[in-house]
Amino acid sequence: MYNEKVLDHFTNPRNVGEIKGADGVGEVGNPVCGDMMTFYIKVKDNKIDDVKFKTFGCGAAIAVSSMVSEMAKGKTLDEAMKITNKDVAKRLGGLPDNKMHCSNLGAEALHAAIENFRKKGEK
Ligand code: FES
Repeated sequence: MYNEKVLDHFTNPRNVGEIKGADGVGEVGNPVCGDMMTFYIKVKDNKIDDVKFKTFGCGAAIAVSSMVSEMAKGKTLDEAMKITNKDVAKRLGGLPDNKMHCSNLGAEALHAAIENFRKKGEK
């Protein structure tokens, strides 16, 4: 039921892990299923220098996290804030209908990490 791209990102996810001393951390939970996703970012010159994630969720959620991390790397914070859940699902070549809710977490967790970084800067 998953296409090859989704399966590839699920079985071989990119950027899995945690960044110690991350500049921003974003954690979100999916109200539909209770799955959780955390994104860690390192910021340099207003760009996402490094990004890692930890996802406790289904295969689609893992594939989504992996794709978001690839899309975010090297982008400016403003550009990364514009990545939407739909963009991610599209880049993955689509998700099965009953798995579309799984695409919700990825961009949200990334955006939460950026907001966390920006809040720290205001202090
Ligand atoms: Fe929870 Fe997919 S079933 S994110």
